[in-house]
Amino acid sequence: MTEHMNLHAAQHATQHVLVNIEGPILTLSLNRPDKKNALTNAMYGVLADGLQRAHDDSSIRCVVIESVGDSFTAGNDLSDFASISAGSGPAVRHVTRFLHGLAAADKPIVAAVHGLAVGVGTTMLLHCDVVCVTEQARLITPFVNLALVPEAASSLLLQARIGYARAFTMIALGEPVDGKTAVEWGLARYLVAPESLRAKALAVAHSLAEKPIGALRATKRLMRDSALIAQTMDRESEVFAERLKSPEAAEAFRAFAEKRAPNFAQFS
Ligand code: COA
Repeated sequence: MTEHMNLHAAQHATQHVLVNIEGPILTLSLNRPDKKNALTNAMYGVLADGLQRAHDDSSIRCVVIESVGDSFTAGNDLSDFASISAGSGPAVRHVTRFLHGLAAADKPIVAAVHGLAVGVGTTMLLHCDVVCVTEQARLITPFVNLALVPEAASSLLLQARIGYARAFTMIALGEPVDGKTAVEWGLARYLVAPESLRAKALAVAHSLAEKPIGALRATKRLMRDSALIAQTMDRESEVFAERLKSPEAAEAFRAFAEKRAPNFAQFS
């Protein structure tokens, strides 16, 4: 029974994240458009495997992360969060493997972002080396609105990138950042028309794939303190796990499921 269920989850995950290798480029496409590409545990598993494959396979020289449908991703699946909050989460949480895969990635990662990039949808971009966005992109990190805390080392990387003042209002107030502003603030590199987004990301990926991989790897190592990033992720994960089980977070997840605003006034 368990094996059957695992198989079922794995099949869904395979459909919900498309993995494509074409020449030196490995592309991970988020493909759960009816749920705005919200990321399930199984989807994190496929993403983590993809990053591992890129790490291990010397023929792969660049990774592209993109999405199908009108959103990049609505972030972590909130019903998965609700299960963890209720004490019935999965035995293995692949998100940790995915985040550590991003921290450790020594080949370049290019992202193509249109529509909503919520929560981890934005924080994963802090680990991508080239981010292409459309004007309609909306980067949102509503961690405090969900009674949670920043993850994916964003407590460190977001303020390093855009300064504390902007980072705090993104995280604590959930203020969205549009594509144009994302480029102005340095959260993204290229502002692209929607019809050119994929082509631009692939063109950048191919340019990077032609560079000497040894120099690229060494450059990433020099420019990113991956040990500090991994350490920060672990520190955040501890607090995040506590927050997931808090009554405040349970209220936030219940409110989302019931399509109403949360009531945090009851907590002191
Ligand atoms: N987890 C699970 N399901 C999600 C989801 C998420 N993070 N985000 C969206 N969905 C689902 C909705 O429940 C809905 O499913 P349904 O059609 O079965 O009811 C479907 O995706 C479409 O979303 P909907 O809310 O109808 O679209 P919208 O355009 O009105 O709003 C969002 C889109 C992303 C603004 C809204 O869905 C939202 O706030 N999602 C939660 C985002 C979030 O907090 N993520 C976690 C960050 S840590």
